[in-house]
Amino acid sequence: MSKKGRVFSGARPTGRQHLGNYLGAMKNYVALQDEYDCVYCIVDVHALTTVETTRDLRNNTYDMALDWLAAGIRPEESIVFVQSHVPQVMELHTYLSMVTPLGKLTDLPTFKEKVRENPDNVNYGLVGYPVLMTADIVLYQTDIVPVGVDQAPHLEFARETVRSFNYRFGANVLKEPQMKTTEIPKVLGIDGQQKMGKSLNNHIELAATPEETRQRVMQMVTDPQRMRRTDPGNPDVCNVFTMHKVFSPPEEVAMIDTECRRAGIGCVDCKKRFAENLNKHLEPFRQKRAEIGQNPDTVWDVLHDGARRARTIAEETMTAVREAIQLPR
Ligand code: TRP
Repeated sequence: MSKKGRVFSGARPTGRQHLGNYLGAMKNYVALQDEYDCVYCIVDVHALTTVETTRDLRNNTYDMALDWLAAGIRPEESIVFVQSHVPQVMELHTYLSMVTPLGKLTDLPTFKEKVRENPDNVNYGLVGYPVLMTADIVLYQTDIVPVGVDQAPHLEFARETVRSFNYRFGANVLKEPQMKTTEIPKVLGIDGQQKMGKSLNNHIELAATPEETRQRVMQMVTDPQRMRRTDPGNPDVCNVFTMHKVFSPPEEVAMIDTECRRAGIGCVDCKKRFAENLNKHLEPFRQKRAEIGQNPDTVWDVLHDGARRARTIAEETMTAVREAIQLPR
């Protein structure tokens, strides 16, 4: 079966994935496999730019890969691998850095934000983060990169860098990638305030038990204006309702929409329903995860096989790149 082109995406090894990761990236990764040749990379080197300790790096890589596979990424079809297993990316990063004006990197909103968050750890690798990301993408002659809007400046940077490289060294050695922004519902944490994230501990893990999931869901903040059961609620500002729209059947969503507004259903009931639907939805995932997880070697085997396939493509690109730069043979 011939597909429409190659997709590449990378994600930092953040360990067990949560609902935000699922709706923001994984679900889309799985769907894209039907139409594209997909390459999915766990960017452990990028993680080094900000981590305080590398203690959890291996476990987090394993846990994320396991969740990806359980969610339906098909390693016979798609390439799933760990960034550092393909060292060619570091080489390409170095060559790309020679056509990158430093000011452009330090002007990026993503860089400025990292500096603000962590003024004591502005390392060289952090400045070069987008250069390494560009190397990730172009090493595989990528057509399309699915990312959230927060990554748009990086993608634009990648496209410009490809043009600079091709202009400087002639020929169309590197392919200019297209960005595909993912339409995703804004996934808030159980606090109903901030984006769902592990660091804020407002997340719901996909691999949690049904009981743990239920407990987390019952802690979810609903419409803050609705104080009493008898107050009518506003689903439009309720994070639980947002989630219902993703995981519950349309009739139930319509019912909640109506009943919440006239205090026909209370928040406790509404959350119970959501927990139930979510657990039902996640059951096949959890089952598959348990199966694969019985033998951790299978996950590492998938990653090693992915790296082997990735290196073949990478080496092809690098041969052309070294030739274009006219590095001594
Ligand atoms: N910067 C991306 C993020 O933080 C991760 C990433 C690294 C990536 N390399 C990539 C995403 C290549 C897409 C393509 O989410």
